[in-house]
Amino acid sequence: MNNMTENKINLILIGADELALKKQQAILSYSGDIKSKIICTPSITEAINHYTQDEHSIAIINLTANGLKELQTLNDIDGNKAAIIIIGDQSNVDLLSQAIRAGVKDFIDTQDYENKLDGVFCKIKKNITHNYNNNHARRLTAVINAKGGSGASFIASNMAYVLSKHSDSKVALVDLDLQFGSIGLNFDKTPKYTITEALHAIDDLDSISSEAYMSKYNDNLSLLLPSPSDILLPGEINITHLKRLLELLKMNYSQIVIDLPRLIDPVSSTIMEQADHITLVIQQSLAQFRDGRRLIQILNKDLDIPLERISIVLNRYDPKNSLRIEDLKNMVNHDKVYKITNDFERVASASNLGVPLCESAANSKIAHDLKDLAKNIVGINFKEPNKSLLKHVRALLSFL
Ligand SMILES: Nc1ncnc2c1ncn2[C@@H]1O[C@H](COP(=O)(O)OP(=O)(O)OP(=O)(O)O)[C@@H](O)[C@H]1O
Ligand SMILES: [Mg+2]
Repeated sequence: MNNMTENKINLILIGADELALKKQQAILSYSGDIKSKIICTPSITEAINHYTQDEHSIAIINLTANGLKELQTLNDIDGNKAAIIIIGDQSNVDLLSQAIRAGVKDFIDTQDYENKLDGVFCKIKKNITHNYNNNHARRLTAVINAKGGSGASFIASNMAYVLSKHSDSKVALVDLDLQFGSIGLNFDKTPKYTITEALHAIDDLDSISSEAYMSKYNDNLSLLLPSPSDILLPGEINITHLKRLLELLKMNYSQIVIDLPRLIDPVSSTIMEQADHITLVIQQSLAQFRDGRRLIQILNKDLDIPLERISIVLNRYDPKNSLRIEDLKNMVNHDKVYKITNDFERVASASNLGVPLCESAANSKIAHDLKDLAKNIVGINFKEPNKSLLKHVRALLSFL
């Protein structure tokens, strides 16, 4: 278990010069909320491999004469990484460029760390704590369509994928369309154990054994799927069991995205009452706008769900369509509306490949729309490339 649980951040100081490492540790020793450790070794590449893989740590790496290779090692680490501060020769453009590729947070010149280390460290520590607290608030997002085939499952799949890729969150995507669920197809996954089996076994499950029912897609994203062959009839799900399953999921995942069928029954109402956000997916036609209005009324008036918890996604948006976003806002009397562009080809190709569109066409307009949607609805911080270091390299290059 990492130290964030006791609100302490791990600080690892790596380098070959023990005196410098001790000095750096002393500079930061005033901070009571860190736990620091020095790794002093003549060949630091192995230490880099070992000690920089916990995303809630900060690692200060003092490059040796082998700096390029050391940064390459850092770059080769797959998946999550600690926040890295490099101390090295800042006038070396190759080192700086390699550092950016490796995703480091800051680069301090060896001559300068006594003045700069404290400020840089404080800024990074503040960000880590903020992101951690924000991203680890447990959040449940339900996605439902106002008419069949509007794209709810597509949106739920991509939102979950984007959250797993761009935030530090563990994400569970649950397909509660127990009759016609399609999430498994979107990720080319057939469940070993199904959601129905998890519900039957619920009295014997804890947060560890419940993991056996999840199909893992990547390090941060797991799916809980219905059986592709057995059909479950409405009323067959025990609501107490469902609530217990949600509690178990919340122990293991900070983001839970649930794809709901277009059905108001005890199962979907339970989920929507518990959800922090409900995403209502509709397309750009009058009939869909009308159904959207009706569904919002049901959610708000009958299920007592506050309007600020509901967002509308206008899917397959076409700017040439004479129906505008403003028309939709007026008609449903709700102004939290996001649009997702129509892109038949890319969506069909992702579907054929059995991967989420945001993976197969990550740089397309529709992928950007989906990323913005996930960011806005869930309101968490996404990992972005380090722009300030890039500026630094450009400035150095202009001197050469
Ligand atoms: N923005 C988009 N551009 C192009 N095609 C899309 C878009 N969004 C969804 N689709 C396609 O529309 C079809 C219906 O999508 P999806 O199955 O996600 O809808 P749904 O609302 O979950 O339907 P159901 O009522 O069956 O649950 C799928 O073939 C999907 O690939
Ligand atoms: Mg669906």
